[in-house]
Amino acid sequence: MAEASSAHTALATWLSARLRAQPGQPLGTALAQALRDGVLQGALAGGQRLPSTRWLGERLGVARNTIVAVYAQLTDEGVLVAGLGSGTFVSQALPARVPASPTEVAPHATQAPLLSARGQRYQNHPIHRFWSKEPFCPGGFDASLFPQALWNRLLAQSLRQTDAGLLGAGEPGGAPALRIAIAEHIRTSRGVRCEPRQIIITDGTAQSLELIARLLCDPGDRVWVENPCYWGASQTLSDLGLQLEPLDVDDDGLPLPPSRTALRPRLAYLTPSHQFPTGAVMPLARRLQWLAHAREHGLLLVEDDYDSEYRYTGKPFPSLLGLDNEVDGGEHVLYLGSFSKTMYPGIRVGFMVVPPTLAEVFGQASADFYRDGDQLVQQGLARFMAEGHYATHVRALRREFGARRQALVAALHQHLPQLITPEGPLRLLGGERGVHLTLGLPDAVDDQALALACRAQGVTVVPLSVYCVGNIHCGLVMSFAASPIDQLEALVARMAPALRQCLS
Ligand SMILES: Cc1ncc(COP(=O)(O)O)c(C=O)c1O
Repeated sequence: MAEASSAHTALATWLSARLRAQPGQPLGTALAQALRDGVLQGALAGGQRLPSTRWLGERLGVARNTIVAVYAQLTDEGVLVAGLGSGTFVSQALPARVPASPTEVAPHATQAPLLSARGQRYQNHPIHRFWSKEPFCPGGFDASLFPQALWNRLLAQSLRQTDAGLLGAGEPGGAPALRIAIAEHIRTSRGVRCEPRQIIITDGTAQSLELIARLLCDPGDRVWVENPCYWGASQTLSDLGLQLEPLDVDDDGLPLPPSRTALRPRLAYLTPSHQFPTGAVMPLARRLQWLAHAREHGLLLVEDDYDSEYRYTGKPFPSLLGLDNEVDGGEHVLYLGSFSKTMYPGIRVGFMVVPPTLAEVFGQASADFYRDGDQLVQQGLARFMAEGHYATHVRALRREFGARRQALVAALHQHLPQLITPEGPLRLLGGERGVHLTLGLPDAVDDQALALACRAQGVTVVPLSVYCVGNIHCGLVMSFAASPIDQLEALVARMAPALRQCLS
């Protein structure tokens, strides 16, 4: 009788070794896995008869019921088939043999799937060589400045609400309470007049841009962009098939396009309040010129107002959208905001203000494409804003970041006095705003090599050239958001020798 055949004995021995090698796993699960592997790897041939459940149970010291259940499961999966009379067999419908181990696999089959041209462009982008969690890398966060206990309390209050609505999908466009709070905040702080329904909550700037590109552009459409440009924006827009038309920024931000150009872009992406990364601030006259240009050419201006809360001297300049509201109903500007720099980067809440005529389709598409975001966080943030904590928190941050900026500038002057002069090779670019500052370098300097030399000293500065999407400009971008004031001087002292050596 085949029961005691050498094939069955060998199978029992092999299964027993597999079970011993996987202690702690439920017996039935381990046994099913072992038999499945045996079949898929070709150790058990198609059509081979398996031992009876009683015989195998006795040999393995496993209850017969367990073997019965394993055979039934593998029969359901199609790994085994029940014979006509009696007996269980390995299915013959499975492919001849799945390679048993990675070393046996054909070389082409082990390679990861090939990245698309777009995927390779992403993977090879030089910015990845410089991004880190060290000071002065942009995107950092100083948790000691965040009112964690207060925030936790507000979130806990939202959590305690028994409103089941918080657990379901939200309203298209975001939590109504948050949209009301944001509309009120940007009315007072940025001169923007809009209805809450025009505010679309997203998980940040890239998603806002993606929604704009998906709904308002077709692949191949052109977009004016700043050169250098925020990587999150240039990457998103070009990945969605838009053709970037870079314009070199000057001390006043994005210049108007040449008057004779035949190009008719659909959008212009700009950061007029504090150009990222050069820090240029666009004066009122140029803002008005851009608005007039947009009206004349049917262009939409995408105003990324990512850090306008942080200005340390003078009055804030009105936002483009605020100006457009005054003159022409705000139909020419899509305004982008983010809570990454005023709350914390992981909050993943941003928003955009769209013209009234587009409010409904943007809300609907946002819900369809990305769902509605975390309703608890949106409720918590709405309360944080409505109860006045946000305004207080931002005021405190503005004071602290203003002091940090001053200290950083002082440290740069202290350690690089001959280099940072109006005629020197190092220029402090931009206005007294934001949480980063940029050192301009002569274009002949290899800013990437210089950044790597700073990196070797534990200081991460991002070379300006990696943000360039047209002509290359050189410099170093450094954020002071994550570095306490008393550490700034020591950090500059660490990077200063590399700068002196490079520029000497
Ligand atoms: C120019 C610019 N826009 C927007 C953002 C914020 O992006 P997000 O909302 O995706 O965090 C940043 C953050 O660094 C930025 O530099």
